[in-house]
Amino acid sequence: MKPIYLAPSVLAADFANLERDIKMVNNSKADWFHIDIMDGLFVPNISFGMPVLEAITKHAEKTIDVHLMIVDPDRYIETFAKLGSNRLTVHYEACTHLHRTIQAIKVAGMKTGVALNPHTPVNLLKDVINNIDQVLIMSVNPGFGGQSFIDNTYKKIRELKEIILTHNADTLIEIDGGVTNKNARELVDCGADILVAGSYIFKSEDAAKTIANMKTIIS
Ligand code: DX5
Ligand code: ZN
Repeated sequence: MKPIYLAPSVLAADFANLERDIKMVNNSKADWFHIDIMDGLFVPNISFGMPVLEAITKHAEKTIDVHLMIVDPDRYIETFAKLGSNRLTVHYEACTHLHRTIQAIKVAGMKTGVALNPHTPVNLLKDVINNIDQVLIMSVNPGFGGQSFIDNTYKKIRELKEIILTHNADTLIEIDGGVTNKNARELVDCGADILVAGSYIFKSEDAAKTIANMKTIIS
């Protein structure tokens, strides 16, 4: 059976107790840390930047999956590699020369990811699908945690899976936004490999238990 990864989104953690929340994820059944970087331009919100990521990686003992929601991400590829990012995802909509950006991420020693906004069709990735390690399908409009899941995502996952199979690629499919224990199973059944969940995990009464429950549902 293929592994399914669960990546708690640190955006929903308690920033005044970041060390506590990072250690909770370390000791939980979660697989990766999902880190959302927003610049207030590509998305209408600013999350956090390098000093905070540095503080996170000091304690984090699992894969660091960084999701850049910034314009012209090429400027910061080297920086995120140095900060300890293992996987770096850029937005299709933010890259004029996507192929070049993907190469630069690879050269910097990270796994490559491309994110698609809800309005961006998956078939636009056909010509680069063999060059990328993961496609992140946004299941909400990027910029904020705690939004409702967009149902059209299921269709997009199935279409993308088809493209991946047709091209004999081993690209993983990541879903980000509004993921809960209600839609997790169906997302995996459609073809998702990585589920990101922020509010659903960190705003729950017992986050470690919520993570364990989600892992059971998707395994
Ligand atoms: C949204 C971010 C997501 C966000 C998900 O722009 O990319 O990673 O943290 O949060 P929830 O799970 O609360 O929708
Ligand atoms: Zn994200």
